[in-house]
Amino acid sequence: MRRIVVTGGAGFIGANFVHHLVQHTDAEVTVLDKLTYAASREALAGLPESRVRLVVGDVAEADDVEPLVAASDAVVHFAAESHNDNSLDDPSPFVRTNLVGTFTLLEAVRRHGVRYHHVSTDEVYGDLPLGDPARFTEESPYLPSSPYSASKAGSDHLVRAWVRSFGVAATLSNCSNNYGPWQHVEKFIPRQITNVLDGGRPRLYGAGLNVRDWIHASDHSSAVLRILTEGRLGETYLIGADGERNNLEVVRMILALLGRPEDDFDHVTDRAGHDLRYAIDSTKLRKELSWSPAYGDFEAGLAATIDWYRDHEAWWRPAKATTEAAYARRGQ
Ligand code: NAD
Ligand code: DAU
Repeated sequence: MRRIVVTGGAGFIGANFVHHLVQHTDAEVTVLDKLTYAASREALAGLPESRVRLVVGDVAEADDVEPLVAASDAVVHFAAESHNDNSLDDPSPFVRTNLVGTFTLLEAVRRHGVRYHHVSTDEVYGDLPLGDPARFTEESPYLPSSPYSASKAGSDHLVRAWVRSFGVAATLSNCSNNYGPWQHVEKFIPRQITNVLDGGRPRLYGAGLNVRDWIHASDHSSAVLRILTEGRLGETYLIGADGERNNLEVVRMILALLGRPEDDFDHVTDRAGHDLRYAIDSTKLRKELSWSPAYGDFEAGLAATIDWYRDHEAWWRPAKATTEAAYARRGQ
């Protein structure tokens, strides 16, 4: 797999994955990215031009996809509309990019016999009760709650149908909540870090008892590469790093790491349909492909992420005011 197309490679996790590919393989990488509000050319700056090129295009446009897939050995599909709150405001780009985009890529890889890896989310399984030992496994039933997670669930079903009906050489992964460098300030952790760096207060939806299972984006990247190179075709692997924390704990950790009192935050309007708890059982990936995360200590990873946002204010500053204006309109 020398020639790899990475869709959404100018976004948060896609860009982390491109860096990982450059460091750990000798692949030539073509990033196909529409450069939406969530993308950043800076995230790819400094990578060797001989190894990485950016093509601006839309995964839902066959004319954009076709020539790149025809000239590749593998496609790793990260491109998506990714934010739940945005999907509640306007689901239409979620349906187009996440469903039509995946369909368009699947048709292209089918035509050209190209290996395909589909990046998905644990949200396709809905949510789990609080205070319960149950975790998601590869056998959990699909029960998505939001327009975002429903569009991702539909895209997973398309992939499995293309595997079974057309013999497409695909693998799938469903990962839990990522954090790390280059994450847009609309997302929970960067929003709270940058609020505090701005002298403001974190904003907690509802009581803050919802649980997310945090994994560093570089661990997500190493897992995707392992599945791409060693995963069994047609199989799904859940990716997680045993990082369950409720939102209140995370906010208090951010405040403590930034030297602020632990109750220096606001409760705001809850998200409609807010999933209670996500938790991943990644036994299959760990046992079958001998993968393990490098960031075992969430607090240390969070501290490094805070340092990164402190050092990269010029990167996040332009998006901050428009993002907060959108939250203010929603009462959040
Ligand atoms: P992101 O929003 O930061 O980046 C998405 C990227 O896709 C952007 O660069 C954007 O320009 C690009 N894009 C959007 N529409 C496109 C289109 N039509 N054509 C081409 N490019 C397009 O997203 P992220 O958080 O990096 O998530 C990447 C993938 O990982 C998504 O598929 C998401 O569902 C999945 N995922 C994310 C998380 C998480 O915690 N963020 C967890 C599990 C899975
Ligand atoms: O689980 C994987 C998913 O994780 C990915 O598929 C999504 O692309 C990614 O955005 C993320 O979804 P969440 O909805 O869990 O992430 P978000 O960062 O939006 O919110 C995390 C939690 O924090 C959630 O319980 C809502 C809450 N929250 C969020 C924001 C932005 C707050 O309490 N305050 C906030 O300001």
